[in-house]
Amino acid sequence: MDKVVIGIDGGTESLRAGVFDKTGRMLGSHAHPYETQYPHPGWAEQRPEDWWTAVGAAVRGAVAAAEVTPDQVAALCLDTTCCTVVALDADGAPLRPALLWMDMRSAAQARAVAGVTGGDPALVVNQGGAGPVSAEWMLPKSLWLAQCEPATWARAATICEYQDYLNLRLTGRLCACTNNMAVRWHCDTQRGRPLSLMAKLGIPELAGKWPQEEVAPGGRVGSLTEAAAQHLGLAAGTPVAQGGADAFIGMIGLGVVAPGQMALLTGSSHLQLGVVGSELHGRGFFGTYRDAVLPGCSVIEGGQTSTGSVVHWFKRTLCPPGLSYAELDGEAAAVPPGCEGLTALDHFQGNRTPHTDPLSRGALAGLTLKHGRGHVFRALLESVAAGTAVILRAMSASGYLLPSAITLAGGAARSELWLQIHADMSGVPLRLTRECEAPMLGCAILAAVAAGWYADVPGAVQHMVHVERQVEPDPAAVAAYAVPLARYAALYPALAPLFHGDHDHDLPAGQQGQKAQAGANGGSSGPHLAAVSAERSGSGGVVSAEGVSLELGGGKEAAAEAAAGPRPAGEPAGGGGGGAAAGAAAGGVILAPSILAADFANLAAAAAAAEAAGAGWLHVDAFDGSWSACRNFTVGPPVVAALARATRLPLDVHLAVMHPGRYIDSLVKAGAAGITVHWEIAPEAEVAVLLGWIRGAGLRAGVALAPDTPLPDSLVSLAARGGVDVVLLLAVAPGWGGQAFRPAVLDKVRQLRQAAGPELRIQVDGGVNAATAAEAVAAGADVLVAGSFLFGHSKGLAAGMDELRAAVASGLAAAAQKKA
Ligand code: DX5
Ligand code: ZN
Repeated sequence: MDKVVIGIDGGTESLRAGVFDKTGRMLGSHAHPYETQYPHPGWAEQRPEDWWTAVGAAVRGAVAAAEVTPDQVAALCLDTTCCTVVALDADGAPLRPALLWMDMRSAAQARAVAGVTGGDPALVVNQGGAGPVSAEWMLPKSLWLAQCEPATWARAATICEYQDYLNLRLTGRLCACTNNMAVRWHCDTQRGRPLSLMAKLGIPELAGKWPQEEVAPGGRVGSLTEAAAQHLGLAAGTPVAQGGADAFIGMIGLGVVAPGQMALLTGSSHLQLGVVGSELHGRGFFGTYRDAVLPGCSVIEGGQTSTGSVVHWFKRTLCPPGLSYAELDGEAAAVPPGCEGLTALDHFQGNRTPHTDPLSRGALAGLTLKHGRGHVFRALLESVAAGTAVILRAMSASGYLLPSAITLAGGAARSELWLQIHADMSGVPLRLTRECEAPMLGCAILAAVAAGWYADVPGAVQHMVHVERQVEPDPAAVAAYAVPLARYAALYPALAPLFHGDHDHDLPAGQQGQKAQAGANGGSSGPHLAAVSAERSGSGGVVSAEGVSLELGGGKEAAAEAAAGPRPAGEPAGGGGGGAAAGAAAGGVILAPSILAADFANLAAAAAAAEAAGAGWLHVDAFDGSWSACRNFTVGPPVVAALARATRLPLDVHLAVMHPGRYIDSLVKAGAAGITVHWEIAPEAEVAVLLGWIRGAGLRAGVALAPDTPLPDSLVSLAARGGVDVVLLLAVAPGWGGQAFRPAVLDKVRQLRQAAGPELRIQVDGGVNAATAAEAVAAGADVLVAGSFLFGHSKGLAAGMDELRAAVASGLAAAAQKKA
């Protein structure tokens, strides 16, 4: 009675089990479907209990189909979708449905991971640190749970994967899989777990929630418990080997385990997984995931989002019913390579690599009246193959040695024409194996090693994977594709501005495609207050001065600090840098000269003058030109560091850039006392992470609003619950000093002061002079930024400061009078 092993593939739609013999032949299999729930657009969930039901039914079905007995089963092993995240309580029971790998709810958290923690060594797998990070990954999903379901987060003893959950139920042992950890958890066998990333994200506790034990693919997780054995219809004690992520275990099933080999998994999408002998990073691909599949088997990853789905789309929507793929292939085969000048772009669902651009779209370029259906169909086939060729090119540009052959699995293998186009476009032979269920066979191989049939995985692969044939590139066709391939490569850069809406930048605000996209992605979500009226009430807009006390001298900040006792080391001064009252005008109002209006060739002198004149903070506009609403370059961290040497004034950095995460660490090092980021550049969750990071570094954390941005309810409530130290309200367009004060800002000041109470610092920036200063403080502002008024003052900066102090006192007095 020959022994067998069972490979189990927990996929997206169903779980399938297959019984394999020692040669890798499948003797029988059975699939059991489960449901996916879509509670909101972009969300996708599955019930862990359904997986458990499925594994029982599928294994029983496979054993019956293969006509084997339970005692013949030497071992089993499973792979699963990845990254499918499960939250378990202390007893191992799921606390909520699993977040399926394709669940995109954590898009904002993914941007936060990439942007906020820029520079963290763990991010090297995301295109050498250039990002982005996919919302599919473990950290964004965990951060979402922490931010959006804090109660579940608090109760969760374990955050793990589908893989780990089923292994736990089968064996009673909780362990993580090194394959999943390497490819989707930002873990690395040399750098370890991404603890500094977790800390920067404000979820250090995640380290304790991940399974503490790790088992690599092929290692022994344990053996079937009594209960599990009954559920599966197998013998208790049957060994359970570690599997991993379906596509990566599929590599094993294709025999792709040695450096120089590559697997191409095709279906509705394409995945290129290359084994590399040494670490490789760069633009246009993901990885290197060190030791991802097996020790020494490190992997780089490329991917195309829509491939088979594009071909299917063409047939389904543009061809008469009944027309077969074989007929379409026949029409396409009659067209020469390059489709007589017709080039398609396969980015129907965006591009995963090498551009990583979710906004990119499909295209047909170069149409003439001569072109027919065969041309268009062939152009689509060529575009997918070209997409793979371009990914290979990006990899080799970073030092990857092109594989001697690519082992291909999946739907593309059904078309000889398409296979040949793939080989000709990339210039690499394609290998096809006997067993098309590569992930299931990969599991069987791992189980065979655990059962002791073979000494190691490469040894098992030799016996269980069988290459059936090889498709060789045709040298003439390879040459003929040179020009079409160049045309394909030129298409994305030419069209990207169109897909990004860059062409409509000059449309009136609110009609810009890009902005609409940002909103759709969750940018400052939630209902907005209507744009505030630019009109002022009769008495100069003075309504209330709540939160601004009238005491002269120390001011509320000094009083609060005195009450709170000495400030802990490392915490920045809340107000002026020196003594209690230094730098504060009446009512504790801070005057902050803005160096944007100073002579940039003499910044040290400007800072010294501001300090001598009794400024509270020095306002430093740090713009890098990346945010289109702020069209200027100013200064960066090195200048902030130089200013920190030139003055003792707290440096308040107004960071109007698209990716603040790139600068936070260096601004902290440079000696900034506070950093203010713009609300408009990212969704609220991402801004919240930035603020946490700034505060975590011991700095004052601020949020800025451009003059056209209505005061968001969500920002008001964030401020009301103390989630931000300063709100900066711009009274001018960001970018330059010397613009006229836009009085609409005053209503925002009033609303915010009313809602947030006296503790919040409200900063008015731009167009501040003696007249507008009085109005701003009367409305409730307590930090005034003034650039050209001070540095351009005819009597000098000190005289300007005196005028502002007088204006503050009169504004406060007017407000108090009005209140009384
Ligand atoms: C505007 C800047 C302000 C500017 C203010 O983009 O954020 O700090 O320097 O300058 P004045 O006071 O000249 O408007
Ligand atoms: Zn500013």
